[in-house]
Amino acid sequence: MKNLPTIPIAGADRNVILIQGGMGIGISLAPLARAVAQRGGVGTISSAGLATLVSKRIGRKVDSYQAATIEVAEAKENGGFIAINIMVALYQSFTDSILGAIAGGVDALILGAGLPTNLPENVASADVALIPIVSSAKALRIIHRRWTERYDRIPDAVVLEGPLAGGHLGFSHADVSKDAFRLENLFGPVKEFAQKHGDFPVIVAGGVYYHDDILRWVNEFGADGVQLGTRFAATYESGASADFKQAIIDCRREDIIVPKNPGSPCGLPFRLIKTSPGYQMALHKDRPPKCNRGFVLRKDQEGHFTVCSAKDSYDSFCICNVLLSAHGFTDREKPIYTIGQRGYLVDQILSVDELMDELIGLNPPKKD
Ligand SMILES: Cc1cc2nc3c(=O)[nH]c(=O)nc-3n(C[C@H](O)[C@H](O)[C@H](O)COP(=O)(O)O)c2cc1C
Repeated sequence: MKNLPTIPIAGADRNVILIQGGMGIGISLAPLARAVAQRGGVGTISSAGLATLVSKRIGRKVDSYQAATIEVAEAKENGGFIAINIMVALYQSFTDSILGAIAGGVDALILGAGLPTNLPENVASADVALIPIVSSAKALRIIHRRWTERYDRIPDAVVLEGPLAGGHLGFSHADVSKDAFRLENLFGPVKEFAQKHGDFPVIVAGGVYYHDDILRWVNEFGADGVQLGTRFAATYESGASADFKQAIIDCRREDIIVPKNPGSPCGLPFRLIKTSPGYQMALHKDRPPKCNRGFVLRKDQEGHFTVCSAKDSYDSFCICNVLLSAHGFTDREKPIYTIGQRGYLVDQILSVDELMDELIGLNPPKKD
């Protein structure tokens, strides 16, 4: 097993794994991941749309393999522990992103948005931590069984992402707000499974915002680490556009919603700020989505996956272009801003250093 770095947190009864969550498209790139890793956290690049972004940045067309290699190498320039977040649903680039990231020297693969039961050959023997993201003990059990059978590997850690997270959520629409699916209620069975099957760390994600939240998860629940998304999206180093960062600061509690129609074409619930221009446009059905990327898979009525194409339907927005727009890459679609349910608590943009100081308890924020 490969150990993840831990950092001391004031008041915590042990050192803690602190992961900056992968955020696509283009929100968590090398500048953010590098800054977090330099502070002893796990800095995570998102592989979503990476070939498109890196090709534009360097002025030369690169594929997903090359893009992952380039971005990881840049993030690792000053050392530290770098992960790459790869979504299983990004079927076209899944294997290339993994192998390219390993070539770039990545320390961990964080795999979500689907069950990563299949991994490319040779991954299990590479010196890289394998970390699935799950939303239940059942999903962890399935992954654990497949990885032991096929690769003779167990997860090096697991991220348990609850329903308060930003991005796509691993729950049905109906379950997102049910008490039984609160992170607090999902944690026990996942921790118990991990303890019994190799004692690998359990990292919680979704709604962790303050130093106090970290203490609660570590000291009261026994979590080994935390993964934060929205707080890191609202840093100077994040790749969110200036409008996206301002939208995070401006949004109110009631502005953060998980709509069903229009929703994400991936078929998973997707949390967003309802004032996002792209969401308002889709809501008013001004025109069909301008879909031309096809990064993701879509689940049909029978549960089969096909290439996502939102263009014929008003039920969804074009997830690729609204997210590329939120990074400032395209104006083909207006942006949609995804954040966690507690994102309304963010009231200023910080540097990663300032945020890390706050999270480890050096510089507590003023709260109402
Ligand atoms: C802007 C944004 C984009 C995200 N994109 C992804 C993604 O591409 N893949 C993924 O696995 N999780 C994604 N997430 C989820 C985060 O990695 C993280 O687990 C989650 O946001 C934690 O909840 P929090 O925002 O309440 O801290 C995203 C979250 C945000 C806020």
